[in-house]
Amino acid sequence: MVHAIFPGSFDPLTNGHVDLLHRALKLFDSVTVAVLVNAEKKPLFTCEARLRLIRRCLPPDRIHVLSFDGLLVDFARKRGAKVLIRGLRAVSDYEYECQMAMMNRDLDPDIETVFLMPKSCYSFLSSRMVKEVAGLGGDVSHLVPPAVLTALKEKFDLDDRDDRPSL
Ligand code: PNS
Repeated sequence: MVHAIFPGSFDPLTNGHVDLLHRALKLFDSVTVAVLVNAEKKPLFTCEARLRLIRRCLPPDRIHVLSFDGLLVDFARKRGAKVLIRGLRAVSDYEYECQMAMMNRDLDPDIETVFLMPKSCYSFLSSRMVKEVAGLGGDVSHLVPPAVLTALKEKFDLDDRDDRPSL
């Protein structure tokens, strides 16, 4: 049984992540989606909300969804996983991903990073862009699962309401 970890901020989950996960499930027996607790100082969604959304959007079979803090290799060791999955969208991802893979290998030479490429229509897609476009009222319905779209709408509608001056 080969178990893999798919780590990230997932703030929020996009169709690109979902695409990668389905590819990973063709290669590995099970996959743990590992959500970094403090990915950004101020993530749009709390860790609990990100976990909830991911669980709602992905089939439960062979997929575990957990949060982690601290070093990724420590989390992988605790889960008994020797494979880390990362997505490579374009050449621009390469340098950062290479640094991270080499650092993780330095920390634990028994853990391998496996890079997967998403469907080409998602090669430009990032959670950061999704948040920016959704926040400015743009259409991201083809870029995120329906539950994430609903959560984004609620988030930005509520934020708008918060911004309104009180009369
Ligand atoms: O979705 P992201 O933000 O690109 O994911 C980055 C992530 C979570 C994979 C990375 O920040 C991470 O592994 N953080 C945990 C801390 C760690 O292990 N650092 C050493 C390796 S660079």
